[in-house]
This record gives sequence, C-alpha cells and structure tokens, in this order.
Amino acid sequence: MNRFWFFVLFFLSVGFVSAKGKWSSVENGSIWIDTEGNKVQAHAAGFLRVGERWYMIGEDRSVRWRPDVNMYSSTDLQHWTFENKIIRNGVTHPDLGKDRMIERPKLLYCEKTGKFVVWCHWEAGDYSASEAAVFQCDKINGDYEYVWSGRPLGIKSRDCNVFQDEDGTAYFISTIEENQHLGLFRLSDDYLHPVECTVLMEGKRREAPAIVRLGDTYYMLSSACTGWAPNQCMMSWSKSLTSGWSSLVPVGDNVAYETQAASILKIGKKKTPTLLYVGDRWWDKNLPDSPTIIFPIAFQGEKCIFPYHNEFEINMKTGKWKCH
Ligand code: DGJ
Repeated sequence: MNRFWFFVLFFLSVGFVSAKGKWSSVENGSIWIDTEGNKVQAHAAGFLRVGERWYMIGEDRSVRWRPDVNMYSSTDLQHWTFENKIIRNGVTHPDLGKDRMIERPKLLYCEKTGKFVVWCHWEAGDYSASEAAVFQCDKINGDYEYVWSGRPLGIKSRDCNVFQDEDGTAYFISTIEENQHLGLFRLSDDYLHPVECTVLMEGKRREAPAIVRLGDTYYMLSSACTGWAPNQCMMSWSKSLTSGWSSLVPVGDNVAYETQAASILKIGKKKTPTLLYVGDRWWDKNLPDSPTIIFPIAFQGEKCIFPYHNEFEINMKTGKWKCH
C-alpha cells in the first residue's frame, strides 16, 4: 500500500471510531486508581461534562474527618486523571479543617458569569452547624475561592446536591431542619446565592438527594438518614420541580446494593440518554477506601429499573451498554 492510501485508510478508520464511539469498561467493588497510580479520593462525587470530558469532584477522605476537595477528569469513566485539589483545608478558608469540614461538594457551570461554582455541605464535627458553602473559580480545575457559608436563607441544611434545569435555572437541594424535609433552593442568576426555598418531602426524613430530568419529568433518588450505614433507596417523580412529587417508591434491594446516591449521569443521546447511577459504598471503618459505585439505571413511567452490575461496558458516545 502506498503512503497515500495508508493515510486515507487511517483517517477513515479514525473517523469511523469517533463516530461510533469507544467502549469502556467500568468495574465496581474497590477504590479506583488514577492514571498516576494513586487511590481516587472523590467521595460523594459531583460531576460536570465539558465536551467529551467528565470532571468529577468529591471528598478527599485520606484524612477521614478533614476532607479537601479533589477534582479528576475522564473521557471514559474508567481512566481518571487527577486535575487539582480545588479546595484545601486551611488554605481556601481558615476554618476549613478546623471548625468546619466539607461534605458532598457538587459542581455547576454558570453560563451568565462564565464561572464554575461549587456548592457543598459545610459542617461542624458534631453536625450542629448545618450550613452550606459556596466557592467559585474562573477555570474548571483551578483553585476555587470561598464566596460565603452559612444556613441558606437561615435554614439548617445538611446533605446536599445541585440541579441545573434545561432553562439554565440552578437549584441547591438539601436535607433541612434536622433532617426532617428536603429544601429546594432556587439560585440567583450567578448561582452563588439562594433566592427561594420550597419544602419537599415534608417529614419524610430523606437525604443524599439526586435529581435528573427526562423530557418533562423530574426523577429524584434519595436515602433515609442512617449515618454511614446503607438503607433503601427510594424514587419519586414529578412534572414540576416545586410541586406534585409522587410518593416514595422503593428501588433495588433494601440497602441500595450497599450504596448511597451521589449523582445521576446522562450518557449518549440527548433525548434518550443512558443514565448512570453513582453512589458511595461507605466503609465506616475505613472511610478513605469507600468505593464509588456506578451502574446503569432507567426510569420508565413510575418505575425505576435499578439493577446492580459489578462490571459493565459502555459506549460513551452512543450510551449503549452491556454486561457479561
Ligand atoms: C450520611 C450522609 O449522606 C453523608 O454525607 C455523611 O454525612 C454521613 N451521613 C455521616 O454519618
């Protein structure tokens, strides 16, 4: 084959592979190792996709009760590259690592300001502070700056997540008032401040909420409050974020396959994506080694298909997945 045809064939095959997408293999059960050979420390992970790259932030539990926030990135959810320690004890804020610790950091991109924003649970050692904190940065993997912390709109707030709706409105959702209810906080246009709170799941004592929107329906997964011990994951759905949430429906086995929800990812086609559940298998006795668990789930009407897979393969472009 002469050089000309070699290059024609080479570029055609590269084009073919990138149109079809590559398959990657995700394995559950033990802590992931990053591309430098270190344990991935990003518990209670939050995600943001930029182009084909997924950015993941989470608690660095190497020092059990003083988590910094680490960021990793990957295009296949299999190989994770360490990007930066984006929030650091004692450096980003003097109280952090002393009077306050971070749990459940979650990431948003605010198109209006062009800034990346982190919301998280900002807590005292005995969980009495019940606060949130906000950080921002000009670039995704930079050193984030502290914006503010406290009880959002004066409301006691613990386990949390964020949700960005299709019209760009962003929300902080957290377990409020001593774990009684969930509070859905609509955020200001710059995503830095809560503007309004709607109480959801009144008296239901839910935590670890994770919301995803499919078409005109919102689905929420959440857990009960049992410390680090796993419990039954429940699903609720609604046509509106602020009202009409269905009653809670149990999904999976009675301990969510020993996980607690952290995030739900959309992979592949925009209208009919594959959904990946991301949860933490907390190991109370050895918190730093708690694995992150991922498996495909689906919502069908009022049902959630939530089957655990120890290993699966996924095509990041098409969202197709299979397991052996
Ligand atoms: C369950 C929460 O979901 C975690 O984020 C953490 O706060 C533990 N409780 C602490 O017991």
